[in-house]
Amino acid sequence: MKAPARRKPSPDALMHEAMKAREASYSPYSRFAVGAALLGASGRVYHGCNVENASFGLTCCAERTALFKAVSAGEQAFVACAVTARSGQGAPPCGACRQVLAEFSPSMWVYWRDTRGRLLQKRLAALLPDLFDFMDHGRKRR
Ligand code: THU
Repeated sequence: MKAPARRKPSPDALMHEAMKAREASYSPYSRFAVGAALLGASGRVYHGCNVENASFGLTCCAERTALFKAVSAGEQAFVACAVTARSGQGAPPCGACRQVLAEFSPSMWVYWRDTRGRLLQKRLAALLPDLFDFMDHGRKRR
């Protein structure tokens, strides 16, 4: 039986989940801990944190960690993603994460804080106009 749809968390509630996700950050090199909470269309929330590596370029950002966890759990449609770094640092998703999130749901909401701690929100498509997508060429396979 399908699980009943859960109530959609508010931007603040999703940001709170991102703060919880941040606690697991592995960031000994930058000391910049990031947390992400990704809300799936099913109502499930997936946590992600940044996972750094001694070979710096292999680091995975919090948003991609959350996305890969969600997709590997069978979810492929998303409503929103909240991202947070330490307070006063603001953390909109980096360009690579915008592209990876947009693979699945370009219209999802993205929540983050500015350096004063105010919650900002934009659609992912507004953060990544003219994204690269094979769909335009009819080559995307599902
Ligand atoms: N980072 C994220 O987790 N998400 C972003 O969108 C930008 C950057 C992480 C990667 C690295 O561990 C640290 O922040 C500093 O760049």
